[in-house]
Amino acid sequence: MPASPDDPTASRLAMSRRQVLAAAGGTGLLAATAAPAKAATRTRKARAGANGEAGTPEQIHLTWGDNPATSVVVSWASPGPATRPRVRLGQRVIPAEPRQYTDGLNGETVWTYHARVGGLRPGATYAYVVTADNDGDASDPFSATFRTAPEGRKPFRFTSFGDLATPNTAWVLSYGQSTYAVEAVESFQPLFHLLNGDLCYADLNPTVQPEVWRDFGNNNQTSAANRPWMPCLGNHEVEFDNGSQGFTSYLTRYTLPDNHVPGFTGRWYSFRIGSVLFVSLDADDVVYQDAGAFVAGPAALTPAASTGNPAIAPGTSFYIQGYSGGAQTAWLEHTLAAARRDDSVDWIIVQMHQCAASSSATGNGSDLGIRQQWLPLFDRYEVDLVLNGHDHDYERSFPVRGADPGVGREVATGAVVNTLRPHPVTTTDSGVFDTSQGTVHLILGCGGTDAPLDEYGTDTADGERQAKVFTRANRPVATSTAGIYTRAAADAVEDATWSARRDTATGYGIAVFDVDPEGGESGGQTSITVTHYQALGADPVNPATGEKGAPTPDYTEFETFKLVRPRSR
Ligand SMILES: [Fe+2]
Repeated sequence: MPASPDDPTASRLAMSRRQVLAAAGGTGLLAATAAPAKAATRTRKARAGANGEAGTPEQIHLTWGDNPATSVVVSWASPGPATRPRVRLGQRVIPAEPRQYTDGLNGETVWTYHARVGGLRPGATYAYVVTADNDGDASDPFSATFRTAPEGRKPFRFTSFGDLATPNTAWVLSYGQSTYAVEAVESFQPLFHLLNGDLCYADLNPTVQPEVWRDFGNNNQTSAANRPWMPCLGNHEVEFDNGSQGFTSYLTRYTLPDNHVPGFTGRWYSFRIGSVLFVSLDADDVVYQDAGAFVAGPAALTPAASTGNPAIAPGTSFYIQGYSGGAQTAWLEHTLAAARRDDSVDWIIVQMHQCAASSSATGNGSDLGIRQQWLPLFDRYEVDLVLNGHDHDYERSFPVRGADPGVGREVATGAVVNTLRPHPVTTTDSGVFDTSQGTVHLILGCGGTDAPLDEYGTDTADGERQAKVFTRANRPVATSTAGIYTRAAADAVEDATWSARRDTATGYGIAVFDVDPEGGESGGQTSITVTHYQALGADPVNPATGEKGAPTPDYTEFETFKLVRPRSR
């Protein structure tokens, strides 16, 4: 059974480990943490470490505080412990709170800092400086500007993609497009960016996870130091020996709005900008698909001795479905219900990594877990828009509400299986959709990995679009090769009647959202205009034409459509 490209094959992972070990002289895991020279040369603003000062800020990125109109968080890392790490904003000096962890696989310690900047004016631009007493750049410290969110019904723009990776092609799944993707965000000057999961694939480079995160952080600093990048967890944030769900690398680096659920800080959250509620979820909690950290074999994964962690046997995966014990879904229902009781909220936009409606043939496809647990809530509370990554392509659904029962088929037997297929409320691609009637799903895993998944399913029997659907857990199974394990592709298929548009020309792009919240008076139409831009020619090999491509800075319009919704008050 083929491994999904999201979940690279054993041979690919093994090759990467060999390359890493070769670069380090083959002396084992600790030595392997020395990154290839290439990793250190490409960053533009990240000068950290060059001068040997442990506290030099790098990987600088912003997130919204609890109220985006008045607060942001400035976060960064440094090569070693920083002394008096701080942010300066005019005359204000905001001390940063330190957070560190030791990677559970290679034993390296990572130092991060987080300065919560509150008391800001809405819709205002601020310059800030990041420094420390032992900042090697103290004479010319890092500085940038950001803008707070507007208050009330003011137009604003945001952008989204997921599955970014890093530009350092020494790492599994990394590719040069990730530099251009970050630059594309800057070119559209959004208020903020939604980064919908699978940030850098450190889990696929298990001996060098902190180095991969570093290349990711220094690449996205080009944009994320200027505007908040709001992430969500994907399957590749699940790392062995890094916390109870494997999220320590992610949670240490990001300070996210408080969900007030004890024990689950940072896993999911919401924030509000004017009349739009943004809800960021961790679908790892509900999906059937097993796609977190995995040891395919034949070798075990042996953590550095300093970690004290035992070897991880071939055939082991880190599967965390159900980890919140229902706490996330209860929070989601509470959050959506409160928003729909509040007539100052019009729009509800959800981001999560895995997909309820994706018909990529070479990718992962859709997952029944999301359809069972969350789509009924999206229906009840009229979620307008859902943004996903996971499949490295672009796909748009028609507005969907409710489910068509009993239309799926088990791949192995052809037997009928209930995939709870999302029911399209229209199949006319008019370009204007009233999302109070149904939720539009967008697949935006089109960030910057080297594995585009822009080949889509077709039912050969009737020529209709076809989607793969996980309806049960694909836990590791032994292959016919001794010592090698795999995880199967989705177990069911359905005709994807909900699929409206798929980009077959490239697996790379960025979606740009322009919110017009005014809509006159109560009952008037508010709108969000969505334009998807594609990076033509960026596929290493185009699946449709076989043409070889390369990373490109050129993003051109693929399609524009409009979502409308009556104003609540
Ligand atoms: Fe993924």
